[in-house]
Amino acid sequence: MHLPLSTLVAILPFFLDTVSGQGSSGTGKTTRYWDCCKPSCGWPKKSNGGNQVQTCDKNDRVLNDGGNTKSGCDSGGSAFMCSNQSPWAVNETVAYGWAAVNIANSNEAAWCCACYELTFTGGAVQGKKLIVQATNTGGDLGNNHFDLAIPGGGVGIFNACTSQYGAPSNGWGERYGGIKSRSDCDSFPQALKAGCYWRFDWFKGADNPPVTFKQVACPAAITAKSGCKRSNDVINETPTGPSSVPTWTGTP
Ligand SMILES: *[C@@H]1O[C@H](CO)[C@@H](O)[C@H](O)[C@H]1NC(C)=O
Repeated sequence: MHLPLSTLVAILPFFLDTVSGQGSSGTGKTTRYWDCCKPSCGWPKKSNGGNQVQTCDKNDRVLNDGGNTKSGCDSGGSAFMCSNQSPWAVNETVAYGWAAVNIANSNEAAWCCACYELTFTGGAVQGKKLIVQATNTGGDLGNNHFDLAIPGGGVGIFNACTSQYGAPSNGWGERYGGIKSRSDCDSFPQALKAGCYWRFDWFKGADNPPVTFKQVACPAAITAKSGCKRSNDVINETPTGPSSVPTWTGTP
């Protein structure tokens, strides 16, 4: 094989992704939900050595032993999704949040607490980026599917919002899709209002916009809120010069 140095520099980031065994990317779909349930990555040993995702009690206080506490979606369960796992705008073009995911040819052990940069390729948010941490999965998700955690986005199959917040029996708004207008957020529990408004402000009320996605190192601002960080999070360094190029053994 005969490759000029410039080619090696260009392929190095790809090489690092490959050796770390991660770095999934592709095109995907989005939906939205907020079911108040304990997310599945909230169970121990789901995130490759890191802590599990924090969960909260009925009053939105972080549980000390959330990992082993039954989900509020199961009868007698008392672990719920913490309200601070709601999306927020970093600036006009970038936002951070969380999602239930299903990545093609992968599994929970590989995606729990991994982060993905989603670039919207359609709808009112086309061109904007949302970086999400995977905290959950769902039996009803297709391949490369990101179900964005947005308060008021619809409870979907399960509903713990009625027991946690006294929401209507099918959750706020429609079971799938949730509420329809910004003013519906006005009557939300205080802790969920900001995330509810985010959908109509930064997210411009986009309705399940398509994305391209790639795995990225998790921003500290995200892991600080979820309490979960993988022990093998992706390598995030940009090689800066010949010293980081693998030893060249070919003949020029
Ligand atoms: C928005 O925030 C992201 C992440 O911190 C940053 O990379 C980007 O440059 C910012 N964009 C603007 C327009 O400030």
